[in-house]
Amino acid sequence: AKPVIVAIDGPSGTGKSSTSKAVAAQLGLSYLDTGAQYRAITWWMVNNGIDLTDPTAVAAVAGKADIVSGTDPAAPTITVDGVDVAAAIRTQEVTSKVSAVSAVPEVRARITELQRSLAARAERGIVVEGRDIGTTVLPDADLKIFLTASPEARAARRSGELKGADLHATREALIKRDTADSSRKTSPLAKADDAVEVDTTELTLAQVIECVVTLVEEKR
Ligand code: C5P
Repeated sequence: AKPVIVAIDGPSGTGKSSTSKAVAAQLGLSYLDTGAQYRAITWWMVNNGIDLTDPTAVAAVAGKADIVSGTDPAAPTITVDGVDVAAAIRTQEVTSKVSAVSAVPEVRARITELQRSLAARAERGIVVEGRDIGTTVLPDADLKIFLTASPEARAARRSGELKGADLHATREALIKRDTADSSRKTSPLAKADDAVEVDTTELTLAQVIECVVTLVEEKR
């Protein structure tokens, strides 16, 4: 069978990662977390003292970090210059800075190239999650999903993950990041015209997974 390409986009806290990983595992597909790649390049920039308020400085070093993503949904990995950064990219510092870095066109061009080459190499197909996968990275994807949820539901899920983080602060930080991601000039967070929108506010994770698996199977 021809490899199947699934694009899953949406704002933070909609269950993109959990859904994408489970769908890929169930269907025997590869999995790519593109947010982790933007976090990884941000981590590298912070580590190397790059002034993130200066897009020219960020653009100048956009190609320097060697970012490698492991695409097994059961054990996704990410390294920068051979260093495992899976935990380091989840800190509040990286989370608060990633939108500024990911808005720089040179950064997007470089990461997009990595994403396309990983998708092209996936033998059975791949589930790619992010913000601009259906619109920009893989516009010919076989299936495009756009996950949404109310801000309250998204903040509650995120603070659950962060174990006891303040709900109000989490909600504010999340809204700030989504606004930045949706309003940037280069491939903003957006629903592709041909994407299926799934509102997950009232759904359990298992229900969202089942819904997406059914949609993929209809395409095969
Ligand atoms: O999905 P996650 O929250 O880990 O993404 C972190 C950040 O990476 C997003 O807030 C966004 O700024 C950026 N990103 C992006 N395009 C993607 C995936 C993530 O700009 N396809």
